[in-house]
Amino acid sequence: MASSGRLSATIGLGLLAVLLTASCSFQKANAQASKPSFNYTQGGADWGSLCVNGSFQSPINVRTARATVNGTIGPDSSFVLQYERLSNYTIVNKGQTIEFEGGENNNLTLPTAIYKPTNGTSKLHLLQSHFHEPSEHLREGVAYPLEQHFVHNDAATGRFAVLAVFYKIDDEEVPNPFLSQILNYAPGGYNNKTVVTNQTIDLPAWIPINSNYFHYNGSLTTPPCTEGIMWFVLDTPLTMSSAQLTQYQRLTFLGGGDRGDNRPLQRVGTRELQHWIK
Ligand SMILES: *[C@@H]1O[C@H](CO)[C@@H](O)[C@H](O)[C@H]1NC(C)=O
Ligand SMILES: *[C@@H]1O[C@H](CO)[C@@H](O)[C@H](O)[C@H]1NC(C)=O
Ligand SMILES: *[C@@H]1O[C@H](CO)[C@@H](O)[C@H](O)[C@H]1NC(C)=O
Ligand SMILES: *[C@@H]1O[C@H](CO)[C@@H](O)[C@H](O)[C@H]1NC(C)=O
Ligand SMILES: *[C@@H]1O[C@H](CO)[C@@H](O)[C@H](O)[C@H]1NC(C)=O
Ligand SMILES: *[C@@H]1O[C@H](CO)[C@@H](O)[C@H](O)[C@H]1NC(C)=O
Ligand SMILES: *[C@@H]1O[C@H](CO)[C@@H](O)[C@H](O)[C@H]1NC(C)=O
Ligand SMILES: *[C@@H]1O[C@H](CO)[C@@H](O)[C@H](O)[C@H]1NC(C)=O
Ligand SMILES: *[C@@H]1O[C@H](CO)[C@@H](O)[C@H](O)[C@H]1NC(C)=O
Ligand SMILES: [Zn+2]
Repeated sequence: MASSGRLSATIGLGLLAVLLTASCSFQKANAQASKPSFNYTQGGADWGSLCVNGSFQSPINVRTARATVNGTIGPDSSFVLQYERLSNYTIVNKGQTIEFEGGENNNLTLPTAIYKPTNGTSKLHLLQSHFHEPSEHLREGVAYPLEQHFVHNDAATGRFAVLAVFYKIDDEEVPNPFLSQILNYAPGGYNNKTVVTNQTIDLPAWIPINSNYFHYNGSLTTPPCTEGIMWFVLDTPLTMSSAQLTQYQRLTFLGGGDRGDNRPLQRVGTRELQHWIK
């Protein structure tokens, strides 16, 4: 399935490896067009020297039978989203993904049972969100058509947390209204083209925050594949229409390729995969 494929730009995630400065340099960098440093035409098999060679890589197959049940979701094991409505948000067409910026004031507080830094709070700031098609993580060995990543950073510790949400096609083909607020306003043209919308998204309503979730230690899924990323893969998929999936493919499509923008599965190895359930 590897034909000419999609041109790939560093998905925000890659940039984040340079920690805080990333969120500042981000917009300026978007303006430049240059040869991408990697792509998906060989499914990541040619990323070798661009990536960390470690045993904590992402994505993985999220299997219930493989996971340890680490308790009931309670006060110390729930997320707290301190998201606000997002107005006049910026959308970037990076070629192989569509990304939007997270605004000034949107934060995620992680469960203290999982993350309790000694020199900070458990609060991480939303930097950006983007998509992968088909999904990067598998659920019980099966891919979903789309996966969204909400990328957060704790400036005090330099740690990153990514909230991953799957999408499935709605039986009634009802479009996802939040996804529409991105796809309907995303710029065409693949070279980091950027628009500032005059729209608003009800960000807190987007994420199924009461979902059960899987948690494990992984990596960025784009070069440099930096490890130490806290992953939270929500059990509950969102729904979208197949027209929205086509819309995403057209926006990101770069010339005849039939590959998506998903990094292939990485080995779970002996890693702990936690399942937090209600
Ligand atoms: C988009 O910008 C990033 C840096 O932010 C750069 O690495 C990438 O090559 C650019 N992509 C294109 C297609 O110009
Ligand atoms: C990306 O894909 C094309 C084939 O379509 C290949 O020629 C190119 O060298 C690849 N790698 C990069 C880094 O662009
Ligand atoms: C990664 O490291 C392992 C063990 O050190 C080694 O066997 C393997 O060849 C390395 N892979 C790459 C792509 O460098
Ligand atoms: C998660 O549960 C497993 C199995 O009960 C246990 O071995 C592991 O220590 C737990 N991890 C945490 C962080 O509580
Ligand atoms: C969004 O931009 C419009 C102009 O395009 C402006 O009138 C409005 O105040 C802005 N809203 C916010 C919340 O910044
Ligand atoms: C969210 O995080 C930002 C950046 O760390 C901070 O300036 C802001 O006060 C936080 N907002 C809330 C509501 O916690
Ligand atoms: C907080 O601790 C982490 C590691 O535990 C360290 O890397 C970081 O520099 C510390 N930050 C501050 C502001 O002290
Ligand atoms: C956004 O701008 C377009 C014209 O570019 C206008 O038709 C539309 O009403 C505006 N929407 C809002 C929410 O201001
Ligand atoms: C992730 O790594 C941290 C730091 O090494 C460790 O404290 C934590 O238990 C790990 N979590 C899981 C789910 O493996
Ligand atoms: Zn991603």
